[in-house]
Amino acid sequence: AIAKLIEAATPVEQWPAEWFEINNHIHRSDLLLKESFTPGAALHAVEAGGADAALEKIRFSDLRGRGGAGFSTAQKWQFCREAAGDTRYVICNADEGEPGTFKDRVLLTSYADAVFEGMALCGRIIGARQGYIYLRAEYRYLLDRLENRLAERREAGLLGEKILGIEGFDFDIEIVVGAGAYICGEESALIESLEEKPGNPRIRPPFPVTHGYMGKPTVVNNVETLAAAAAIVLHGERWFRGAGTWQSRGTKILSVSGDCARPGIYEYPFGVSINDILKDCGAVQVQAVQVGGPSGRLVDPSHFDHHIAFEDLATGGSLMIFHHSRNLLEVIRNFTCFFTHESCGFCTPCRVGTALLKNGMDKVASGHGTAHDLDELKATAALVSRRSHCGLGMTAPNPIRDGLKYFPELFEARLLHQEMEPEFNLDASLE
Ligand code: NAI
Ligand code: SF4
Repeated sequence: AIAKLIEAATPVEQWPAEWFEINNHIHRSDLLLKESFTPGAALHAVEAGGADAALEKIRFSDLRGRGGAGFSTAQKWQFCREAAGDTRYVICNADEGEPGTFKDRVLLTSYADAVFEGMALCGRIIGARQGYIYLRAEYRYLLDRLENRLAERREAGLLGEKILGIEGFDFDIEIVVGAGAYICGEESALIESLEEKPGNPRIRPPFPVTHGYMGKPTVVNNVETLAAAAAIVLHGERWFRGAGTWQSRGTKILSVSGDCARPGIYEYPFGVSINDILKDCGAVQVQAVQVGGPSGRLVDPSHFDHHIAFEDLATGGSLMIFHHSRNLLEVIRNFTCFFTHESCGFCTPCRVGTALLKNGMDKVASGHGTAHDLDELKATAALVSRRSHCGLGMTAPNPIRDGLKYFPELFEARLLHQEMEPEFNLDASLE
């Protein structure tokens, strides 16, 4: 039925919610997803100890950004709090566009109060009165239910003016729906889009903590980071630090999809191995796993004893599993097409480079490539990742680079076995 909707070119915003929620099943909950969340509980906890104590809790918890980069959350909030100016903002990055990633969708569906409260407590700590949720265009179907929930919170005194009846504790949240561009998941492009400008990434530094939305100090955090912050304030930093590794505390929520018996959501302590996840989700005869979506790492079975952690395999939250029977070269080509399509065109290395990578992959996959084309792919991939302006271009060549590194035989098997005679011999024509 999904194929029919695609065939009929039905805009993705009009797809029924059940198609999105098909993989929402939570198979494993270790920490965050295990706790039920009473609306207002984290806000009461902040007020009981004070905003400074709440920031210290976040600091001692060692919470790091769950979007993939792992920047210290307390550090980010502290920078923003100390930045010059009276007006500050909190932005929840819910532009979950990485193919294969849908864990934020589940948090917004079933744990929205924890996300809202994470935003409000961030506002309380940094001194912001306004928050924005930048919602992925394809998640528009969640808009009404999120708006209703926000209205209920205003009614209950958990949002708006004088939260919990406290003079000076004012914070409200507005939801802004994106327009379907992957690049707007990059925080500075997101901010541009929020300012109603084309979503082109800014030059960083300066970072949003000092020059963010409308040029004001702004915290941009991933949905999962904000939910985790609310839970830490509520349950304490020790509760959180009890899970994970010493460089990656707490848990990671993963969207697991592809060739496995039980796709869906899994929450693990950081440090879990790929092998353990494959066992839990019922994946066998696995050829490759894409960790962190196409912008992440494509790994072969020799990596399956590696761990999900910032110090090993970092991920924004997805694992795509490919069985031995899959045409992995086609998968790599597909990912390359995705980046070519999503490149915003702002800088030349990415705009032209991703198109060259796509052309190269088309040529190799169609059986017309030579060894020279593989060398060209390698050189272009290196240039695009080194010279691009933002994370999209820097990571766009990853599927090709990992493919050539770990699965060279797939490329070589498609090459023309004999070098073609050049159609036009320049040297000969000059003689
Ligand atoms: P980054 O490392 O440049 O920044 C991470 C965060 O820390 C940002 O909020 C940035 O403003 C802040 N930051 C970094 N240095 C700072 C400083 N000196 N002062 C103040 N703030 C600072 O990473 P970036 O480019 O924002 O994100 C790349 C990551 O996003 C990748 O690791 C990738 O895994 C992930 N990603 C996630 C996707 C998803 O759907 N969740 C999609 C694509 C990529
Ligand atoms: Fe746009 Fe790509 Fe350049 Fe990023 S790297 S600014 S997505 S063209």
